[in-house]
Amino acid sequence: MKVGIIGSGGREHSICQMIKNSKKINEIFCFPGNAGTEDIARNIDLDLDNFENIKKFILENEIDLIVVGPENPLVNGLVDYLEKYKIKVFGPNKVASQLEGSKIFTKKLCQKFNIPTANFGIFKNKSDSKQFLKKSNYPIVIKADNLASGKGVYICNNENEAHSAIEEIFDGKFGKAENLLIEEFLDGEEMSFFTIHDGKIFKNFGTAQDHKRVLEGDQGKNTGGMGAYSPSRLINNDLEKKIINKIINPTLKGLTELGCSYKGFLYAGLMIVKNEPYLIEYNVRMGDPECQTILPKLKTNLIDILIACCENKLHKIDIEWYDKKSLCIVLCSNGYPDKYQKNVKIKNFDQTKLKKNEFLFHAGTVKQNGEIYAIGGRVLNYVCLSEDFKTAKENIINRLTKLNWVNGFYRKDIGYKVIKQ
Ligand code: AMP
Ligand code: GLY
Repeated sequence: MKVGIIGSGGREHSICQMIKNSKKINEIFCFPGNAGTEDIARNIDLDLDNFENIKKFILENEIDLIVVGPENPLVNGLVDYLEKYKIKVFGPNKVASQLEGSKIFTKKLCQKFNIPTANFGIFKNKSDSKQFLKKSNYPIVIKADNLASGKGVYICNNENEAHSAIEEIFDGKFGKAENLLIEEFLDGEEMSFFTIHDGKIFKNFGTAQDHKRVLEGDQGKNTGGMGAYSPSRLINNDLEKKIINKIINPTLKGLTELGCSYKGFLYAGLMIVKNEPYLIEYNVRMGDPECQTILPKLKTNLIDILIACCENKLHKIDIEWYDKKSLCIVLCSNGYPDKYQKNVKIKNFDQTKLKKNEFLFHAGTVKQNGEIYAIGGRVLNYVCLSEDFKTAKENIINRLTKLNWVNGFYRKDIGYKVIKQ
């Protein structure tokens, strides 16, 4: 069969990599892909906002299954559009994608179905928001409603910081803002919980913890993710049951009441406070770099799982995992998440031959005349599976030291909570 993957990050390269060895796969297309996917797939540079052109390409090339990696095309309704033309797509539809596309949609769902989450208020203008702050405790969290690539969230330590967050959001920093959210600060440890859905049932798809801040010690600006490890140290049977019963099941019930089922990956960003889960946010896709971190642990071929999901047959699949720890470190361009240089050559690249249990997934890279160039903020993801997190991390650091890319940097403390010094 022919499979098309939408996206160009480490997540999409890892998906390509994990399906390529299946006997079922004849050809993989990646829209638009990166230097890593180019070795195993046909990279196709199409405008992801132009649904008609995407559909035309898929039909002309007789692609049997499309997997959507990032949130934007999902929130914009690509799945609904392609399904109208009888194209098989793995990913949630537009209504369900509001779980990520609108924080207020999700908060209202939490309210209606008693899903544990931070207490919150929705405000329509600057003055009501500021009025509310007069009687608030700090820290407090202020969020833009719409998709903001992880950047529309402010943790404010005092009224001044809160005022400038409100100004920035209503002044349109994340697009036109009709409202914003002010919520209680939850003091706990974060965990990402993944499930995979076929429209009828779902199965667990692992846990992870990522490091979103750019600097060591989880300091500095938010990024797309500087590294991750799986499983989370917080997960246990009791917590898993609570997450499913108090968060995932009521969410699916809420979607059913809207006449909508869920197909695709669902990523619950949770705060765990004394072994109790609170929903911080939903993403309607795999995380990046959590996807690169979790997929190497998968024993069952990913393509069989994805096909089963598109045919409402997930109950027929037993998802098996390697009982190993996985850790991922992201190599970024100097300057990320602010300004960074583009088209910078990565020298020494061919020295990076990988051992079993080591994986290298490209993100912002292109290949020109056989050489690899960095074109994005996040450039390469090194992942290692091991019996313990410490060994996995040491192996990756060895690789990165050998590569010695002077135009980039990475966090040397990924997984510090699970690696005793
Ligand atoms: P989000 O984009 O909603 O995941 O928020 C980005 C980050 O802000 C999260 O990963 C948390 O670290 C933090 N955050 C968001 N909401 C809260 C909250 N209510 N309490 C504490 N931290 C939060
Ligand atoms: N690593 C966070 C995300 O994918 O949203």
